[in-house]
Amino acid sequence: MLPESHEHRVVPFVSPGFTVKLADRPWERRQAMALRRRVFCGEQGLFAEDDRDALDECALPIVALSWWSGMAEQVVGTVRIHDHGDGLWRGSRLAVADDYRRLARLGTELIRIAVGSARARGCSRFLAQVQQANVPLFERLHWQSLHRINVCGRPHVLMQADLAHYPPCVEPARGVVTTRRQAA
Ligand SMILES: CC(C)(COP(=O)(O)OP(=O)(O)OC[C@H]1O[C@@H](n2cnc3c(N)ncnc32)[C@H](O)[C@@H]1OP(=O)(O)O)[C@@H](O)C(=O)NCCC(=O)NCCS
Repeated sequence: MLPESHEHRVVPFVSPGFTVKLADRPWERRQAMALRRRVFCGEQGLFAEDDRDALDECALPIVALSWWSGMAEQVVGTVRIHDHGDGLWRGSRLAVADDYRRLARLGTELIRIAVGSARARGCSRFLAQVQQANVPLFERLHWQSLHRINVCGRPHVLMQADLAHYPPCVEPARGVVTTRRQAA
C-alpha cells in the first residue's frame, strides 16, 4: 500500500492524441451510443434512460477516438448529423467525455467534421439546437443565433453555421488528428 502522502499523486491516463472521424465500425457506433447515454441521461438528465430516437436510423455518427499505443481504442466524443432535405442538414447529440473536455479541442473538431461532412454531401444550410451554456462556444466557431427555443424543458438556441468557415470534408472516414493542448 502507498504511504498516504503518495495516494493523491496517481493521475488517470489520458491519451495524448485523437482521431475525429465518421464512425464506420460497429464498436465505434456502440461506444458513441454509450457515451451519449452517460452524458444526456446520466449527467444532464435530459432523457430518463435512453436518448436514442428515430433519427438514429438515418443519422451519420461522428466520433472522437483516443489512442492507446498508437491504436484508436476508445470513443471519447461524438456528434451525429442528418439530411433534413432541400440542402438542410442538422447536427445533434454533441458530447465529449467528462475527462476529455477543454483538453484537445474535441468539441471543436467534432463540429468541424460534422459540418464539413454535410457540406461534402450537398448541405447548403446547417442548423443545430444548442444548449444555452454552449452558445459562446458555437459563436466563436462562426455560428449565428436564430432564436431561443425550449428542448426537453431546457433553454436552447437554434443556431446556424456560417458555411464559409467550413470547407467540405471529402474523406470523413479518414478524419483528422488532434492532440492535447500544451499546458499554459
Ligand atoms: C460542449 C462540449 C461538447 C465541448 O467540448 P470540448 O471538447 O470541451 O470543446 P473544445 O475543447 O473544443 O472547446 C473549445 C473552446 O470553447 C470553450 N468552451 C467549451 N465549452 C464551453 C462552454 N460551455 N461555454 C463557453 N466556452 C466553452 C473551451 O474553453 C475552448 O475555449 P479555449 O480554446 O479558449 O479554451 C462538452 O463540454 C460537452 O460534452 N458538454 C456536455 C454535453 C453538451 O453540453 N453537449 C452540447 C449540447 S448543445
